[in-house]
Amino acid sequence: MRTAIVFTTKHGATRRVAEEMKALRPDIKFDLINLREEKNPDLDHYSTVIIGMPVYQGLPSLDVEHFCMDYVSLLRSKKLGLFVCGVLPAGEDRNREMDLAYSIPLVSHAAAYEFINSSYDVGKLNFIERFMLARRAGRNTPNRESCSKDIQNFMKRMFPY
Ligand SMILES: Cc1cc2nc3c(=O)[nH]c(=O)nc-3n(C[C@H](O)[C@H](O)[C@H](O)COP(=O)(O)O)c2cc1C
Repeated sequence: MRTAIVFTTKHGATRRVAEEMKALRPDIKFDLINLREEKNPDLDHYSTVIIGMPVYQGLPSLDVEHFCMDYVSLLRSKKLGLFVCGVLPAGEDRNREMDLAYSIPLVSHAAAYEFINSSYDVGKLNFIERFMLARRAGRNTPNRESCSKDIQNFMKRMFPY
């Protein structure tokens, strides 16, 4: 059984999430596919596909959106997992982000769909990005621990055996 984790990232947090998922299950063969580097991946040989993206300014990644549109039939023939990385606290705004991120045919087919509170390296951000990040996060302070907890929940739903 092979699993592809297809993702995009701007500052590296989503890649780290994908790597942590991979490290949690050394018994499963994972391939990490960055859509910016590989726009039309061949997914025929995977039984399971996980898709992940960060949310910026409440909006999903266009690369992932296009990928999901192009691959919707194929993705619905696989075991599917979906996640978004972000900092919004639990609540209506976060639910709205999740509703916007993936289409209903994919969400209804997914074995797991989680919001991953993703920790980020503030040192990589410029002043404006830091300001916008702080506004989105409010009192939520994602850190390595909260991120790992969300990843573990996701993996338990995805691979309950
Ligand atoms: C300028 C900026 C805007 C952001 N906007 C949102 C947002 O609207 N909602 C959210 O949940 N997270 C938001 N975030 C947090 C990122 O989604 C989060 O840090 C994510 O882990 C970044 O992933 P990446 O490093 O893979 O790009 C924002 C971060 C920055 C820097």
